[in-house]
Amino acid sequence: MIIGIVKEIMHGEGRVSATPETVKKYREDGFQVLVENGAGQGALFSDEQYRQAGAEMLSDCAEIYRRADLILKVKEPLFNADRGVHELDMMHAGQYLITFIHPASPVNHEMVKKMAAKGVIALTLDGVPRISRAQKMDALTSMSTCAGYKGILIAASNLTKFIPQIFTAVGMIKPCNVLVIGTGVAGLQALATAKRLGAVTYAADIRPDAVEQAKSLGAKIVETGVPGEIAVGQGGYAQALPKEWLVKEREALREAVKQMDIIFCSALVPSRLAPVLITDEMVASMAPGSVIVDISVDQGGNCALTVPGETCVRHGVTIEGIKNIPGMLPTSSTWMFAQNVYHLVKYLVQDGRIVLDRSDEIVAGILTTIDGELVHKGALEAMGGTK
Ligand code: NAI
Repeated sequence: MIIGIVKEIMHGEGRVSATPETVKKYREDGFQVLVENGAGQGALFSDEQYRQAGAEMLSDCAEIYRRADLILKVKEPLFNADRGVHELDMMHAGQYLITFIHPASPVNHEMVKKMAAKGVIALTLDGVPRISRAQKMDALTSMSTCAGYKGILIAASNLTKFIPQIFTAVGMIKPCNVLVIGTGVAGLQALATAKRLGAVTYAADIRPDAVEQAKSLGAKIVETGVPGEIAVGQGGYAQALPKEWLVKEREALREAVKQMDIIFCSALVPSRLAPVLITDEMVASMAPGSVIVDISVDQGGNCALTVPGETCVRHGVTIEGIKNIPGMLPTSSTWMFAQNVYHLVKYLVQDGRIVLDRSDEIVAGILTTIDGELVHKGALEAMGGTK
């Protein structure tokens, strides 16, 4: 089986889907690996390192798309402006693709329909279920870990003050207050990072388990007032709140928000729009110079004033709506991503070829298009049952 690793074409994307380390492992497992020249540049891996790991280096990505049985990517197929061709148009029927596709997201509906029509067998990494046997393959969790850490550093570098308590000859400087809203994977990493920087940390989440985990990281809890039976749904996940509870939650957060120097927003119910928890008026109540990092931008954002993909200043508060935070930490995020993908490939391959057992929870979660059909449940639901 031939695996193809292409250079990511999204602007600012430094990640790559395989490291020299995973290429070496694929080779030891009997795969042939084609890598596009410069694919690892953004994550500081040279062509020579890939060559030494056993990859065949190629300058033309079209040749990789033509020859490979399995394409590994970080981002969904995009239009390649340099070549004037969509990446999908370089793919062929029966070819496997593993990447983040986000098929339920409306902006990708046309692309996944085209993917199905093309006969590509696409597997989306955002569909890996959060179950213990899938942990090693869970690239979404890895990327959220990166976003939690780097998101707090972005907030810190925007802030006009020290974060820790500092004793100086002229007096004591108070530590900053950091509130994390939504203490799932990204939020817990954000709390831990803020704590390491010396902040006084606060946390809010509607799931009692998430609140307990935040407490164990030393955070003070801002009660949302949402009862557990309304907050938690099937499988222990948070559920989208009815409007009246969302209004109550905003009220519960209002006083705390005023006291914060940094607010990190990562509240989300899977496959739903992110709840708006910080209103225009709440931003206005914050001290000038405060910073909001809203990482739920792809799902609309938790702050009403976030501009997706941009940094803006509103009421003197800096609001970061950066979309691709893991891409700003390319060495660590690539290392984690490449390991996750390697474990997924190992899981799917039997006797040198990919075997998809559709009754398996992991396969069912990631399978997006096969046999010319779009089969991803979330995408079909989001399209209202149409294909
Ligand atoms: P997660 O599912 O682990 O955590 C989300 C948390 O939000 C859960 O603990 C849930 O209980 C909580 N939540 C849901 N509704 C809430 C409400 N009304 N009030 C308070 N808390 C609420 O998700 P994860 O992996 O931590 O990702 C969080 C967000 O970060 C997602 O939107 C994800 O797409 C985004 N993300 C963004 C990146 C970027 O570069 N901008 C990179 C990685 C993740």
